[in-house]
Amino acid sequence: MARYAYVNGRYVDHREATVHIEDRGYQLADGVYEVVGVRDGKLIDEKPHLDRLDRSLNELRIAQPVSRRTLGFIIRELMRRNRLRDGLVYMQVTRGVARRDHAFPTTPTKPSLVLTTKNTRHLGADAGPGIAVKSQPDIRWERCDIKTVALLPNVLAKQAARENGAYEAWLVDAAGCVTEGASTNAWIVTKEGELVTRQTDSGILAGITRGTLKSIANTLQLRLVERPFSLSEAKQAREAFITSATSFVTPVIRIDDQPVGDGKPGPTARRLREEYVRFADTAEVVI
Ligand code: PDD
Repeated sequence: MARYAYVNGRYVDHREATVHIEDRGYQLADGVYEVVGVRDGKLIDEKPHLDRLDRSLNELRIAQPVSRRTLGFIIRELMRRNRLRDGLVYMQVTRGVARRDHAFPTTPTKPSLVLTTKNTRHLGADAGPGIAVKSQPDIRWERCDIKTVALLPNVLAKQAARENGAYEAWLVDAAGCVTEGASTNAWIVTKEGELVTRQTDSGILAGITRGTLKSIANTLQLRLVERPFSLSEAKQAREAFITSATSFVTPVIRIDDQPVGDGKPGPTARRLREEYVRFADTAEVVI
């Protein structure tokens, strides 16, 4: 089956999909992206993801490449062509092609829009065996609220985690607090039964899954606190887990070389995952 990518107005064979060598995304990481999860052929939380894309574009003063309506159409057409049932849609917008100069081009460029899809194994209500995380210093810039393609610190942190037998890196700031994962948000359940995740500001990405899980936690009447938590507090926690569009809610069973709780996925994480999958299955699709 041919796999398609969408590149600046055309659906092209994925193997031959290319952008210009002077695309500012390629040369300067001058661009933003979004990842939307797909379950049973349905987009999860499409609207908040597209809202966040708009916000990232606005923050960097990159023009919208197409209208929201058109983007919704392109996403669906690519999913249809690629027969995507379970996986993700990746979309990327850069400032476009221009002669290399750090400053914005003086004559406005047409932003580049690229979309791909990826099939993943079916993500279900079962939280699985859990994952290990490895702490790494958070050496990123101070605008982590923008979902830019400039991901080198995240790449290096994730690689260090993988080389240490961990699936994800937990980034730790100068105060010793966990900000978030390399590509996920970080949560703990304290010994007192408080659900804790760091407050959103320019230090982390306001995850869409994180936002949805906040509502779910409220519905379940869990005690949720948004505040910084230290790496040592996390290691003492009863439970820990990560959230993202592609991992949903995934329990963390080890931080560095220390088991979390009894070293097994905890009841809160498992419950939240079940509820999240229920939400994904019943949510209305809104553009
Ligand atoms: N990552 N924090 C960071 C740094 C991320 O890159 C992501 C998403 C998240 C979770 O956000 P959301 O719940 O909206 O997926 C938090 C995507 C999945 C990625 O880069 O592939």
